[in-house]
Amino acid sequence: MEWYEVAFDRVYPILYAHRDVGEATRVIENFGYLFADKSPVLDLASGNGRYLEALRRKGFESFGLDLSHYLLRSSVEEWEHTGLLVQGDMRHLPFTDRSLGAVINMFTSFGYFSIDTDNLLVFKEIQRVLEPGGVFLFDFLNAEKISKNLLEETRRVSGDFEIHERRRVGTRGKHLHKHASISNPQTGQKKEIRERLRLYTKEELIIMFRSVGLSIEEIYGDYEKNAFVNGVSERVIIVARNNV
Ligand SMILES: C[S@@+](CC[C@H](N)C(=O)[O-])C[C@H]1O[C@@H](n2cnc3c(N)ncnc32)[C@H](O)[C@@H]1O
Repeated sequence: MEWYEVAFDRVYPILYAHRDVGEATRVIENFGYLFADKSPVLDLASGNGRYLEALRRKGFESFGLDLSHYLLRSSVEEWEHTGLLVQGDMRHLPFTDRSLGAVINMFTSFGYFSIDTDNLLVFKEIQRVLEPGGVFLFDFLNAEKISKNLLEETRRVSGDFEIHERRRVGTRGKHLHKHASISNPQTGQKKEIRERLRLYTKEELIIMFRSVGLSIEEIYGDYEKNAFVNGVSERVIIVARNNV
């Protein structure tokens, strides 16, 4: 099994509890103008549906696709999401060409596949399903910042759980490897999670976007829309359109 087929289950909301609907709502407040006449918005890798909920709160229709059955089910249980939820792989979208006005891919839901071809295929699929002029909002980590300021080991507490995370950058700076150990000292339960992410730089992402026919309109360094600064910004946020 690949790491992304097992990592996004019941421990994911514990590990990333701070990535909540409040954050998603602030992001949609800042970027919602992109979707004015574009709904429904596809949230590609919708996770537990926090962005679907944020979009709903701002009056946008949306639907989600994710590989994790567990997280898709949480979308319904947590937010009573009534819209379409599709279980699928982001490399093969079950939608026809030029059928969607907007796609979002948020919080580093990219770079999971071991070969560049497969990661590029995700952008190719997004371009294929977007109508001409359709908009793509992409939110990735800033690889240069991660590599420069890597926190090799952290320990923290989330609710009843103790979390021990170890990180390393490998393959000549190309991959971030993370190992997380989550334990509940009261019950003795313990789970280990591994993640491996391709650390695409902003420049590599720009090449990939252009190569599939997505033209870049805006680039920001964080959710507040501050300018991107190499090695400093938290995120690489790209707004692109299908120009084919
Ligand atoms: C870091 S989470 C982000 C979730 C959501 N975008 C958010 O901001 O909360 C990454 C998501 O990608 C999904 N995912 C992983 N591999 C996938 C694949 N091959 N196809 C579709 N979704 C996938 C996971 O199940 C998980 O929900």
